[in-house]
Amino acid sequence: MNDTRIRPRDRDAIIQSLRAGVVPRSGQQHVQVGRAREVESLLRDLDSVADGGSTARFVIGEYGSGKTFFLNLIRAAALKKRLVTMHADLAPDRRLHATGGQARSLYAELARNTSTSAKPDGGALAGIVERFVSQALTTAREQGVAPEIVIRQRMAELSELVGGYDFGTVVEAYWRGHDTGHEQLKIDAVRWLRGEFTTKTEARAALGVRTIVDDASFYDQLKLLSRFVRMAGYSGLLVCLDEMVNLYKLTSSQARSANYEQILRIVNDSLQGISTHVGFLFGGTPEFLMDTRRGLYSYEALQSRLAENAFATNGLVDHSGPVLRLTNLTQEDFYILLTKLRHVHASGDPQQYLVPDEALHAFMHHCSQNIGDAYFRTPRTTIREFLNLLSVLENNPGQPWEPLIGGVRFEAERNPDLEPIEAAEPDESRVDDELATFRL
Ligand SMILES: Nc1ncnc2c1ncn2[C@@H]1O[C@H](COP(=O)(O)OP(=O)(O)O)[C@@H](O)[C@H]1O
Ligand SMILES: [Mg+2]
Repeated sequence: MNDTRIRPRDRDAIIQSLRAGVVPRSGQQHVQVGRAREVESLLRDLDSVADGGSTARFVIGEYGSGKTFFLNLIRAAALKKRLVTMHADLAPDRRLHATGGQARSLYAELARNTSTSAKPDGGALAGIVERFVSQALTTAREQGVAPEIVIRQRMAELSELVGGYDFGTVVEAYWRGHDTGHEQLKIDAVRWLRGEFTTKTEARAALGVRTIVDDASFYDQLKLLSRFVRMAGYSGLLVCLDEMVNLYKLTSSQARSANYEQILRIVNDSLQGISTHVGFLFGGTPEFLMDTRRGLYSYEALQSRLAENAFATNGLVDHSGPVLRLTNLTQEDFYILLTKLRHVHASGDPQQYLVPDEALHAFMHHCSQNIGDAYFRTPRTTIREFLNLLSVLENNPGQPWEPLIGGVRFEAERNPDLEPIEAAEPDESRVDDELATFRL
């Protein structure tokens, strides 16, 4: 049916990731099944970001239903559309709002995971600044003016935004480093943009700037970056935040509210079209969204904005609202997924298939008897076991598949998010220079 060849690099990356229980970072299209409408709707979001709009979407699904996979898929599509992407998982020490360095830490993680189509695995921020500079040089040459005039003009456009003045100072410092061959200045400028300075004193000494990216500037900094990537010639910025359930798990209701307020700012800006060329994708579980005690719905203003279309019930869907629910994969989807895994494993060559279709059916039957519906609805373990099976067959030529299938053992998937964590709350009274615990 499908005889597109798979690049060896993609094959190995896909198989290794899936066997380790994580989603592949590239080549997802080779194994993707289902979700055509959801993908389509988010591709429209990406076009709207490229057109100057701003979007915020909540990708909601059960543990193991495919949120991370979906986010990665959209991220890959965004790179193709010449957007810059940033992605990070929230964690107890990485949040949207904090006073103990956790928001800066989330920003720094996003900055490390900044990607472009030329650098899809992160670490692209320095290249983006370099590209901005070379664009400015070209413009300066065309207009017959000094490059610093062009750079200053561009940066003046940012100065109306919160933090824009210092951002501009840092970019100008990068330019000076570039112009005078002062490498350290360039390195420091990029470090600043990546949120890696921990004290203002240090930043001032290195770059002559009064501020650093800190907890309070998390969102403003992303807005600045979304403008900046445009100036560097990209279409916009996509920010993917996964594992949002970590906010739901915060024990302090004050800390939760402060984080939800930050989300509200982002949602409001997107609904009102204030920020431009920036899209946010949040990945989270149903309890993160709907729990009225600790979830987003516990924050009234968000509940009203995120309320789902009351007409979209009984199997009807509406993919235009901010909440995008991932429907479960179906049994048919899972069958197609197995054929794709077999295909990828064989490097795209049907001659090399290790098992016939019959074995796929037998495998599914075995899974169903062992763990019921979960085998296709939350398929992480079943995917892994299927690849393990192929691997045994590959390494033992001549071994028939039939006796192996009955021997596949599963552990039911356990959702670790449902276990409450008792994270110690940060001491809200500390001052910012001492709190910064995050280091390179
Ligand atoms: N649309 C899809 N097509 C193919 N495989 C998928 C799809 N969605 C999820 N998977 C696979 O299912 C497993 C669970 O998905 P994951 O994204 O990790 O779930 P979640 O983030 O919701 O917990 C992973 O192995 C992933 O590769
Ligand atoms: Mg996930």
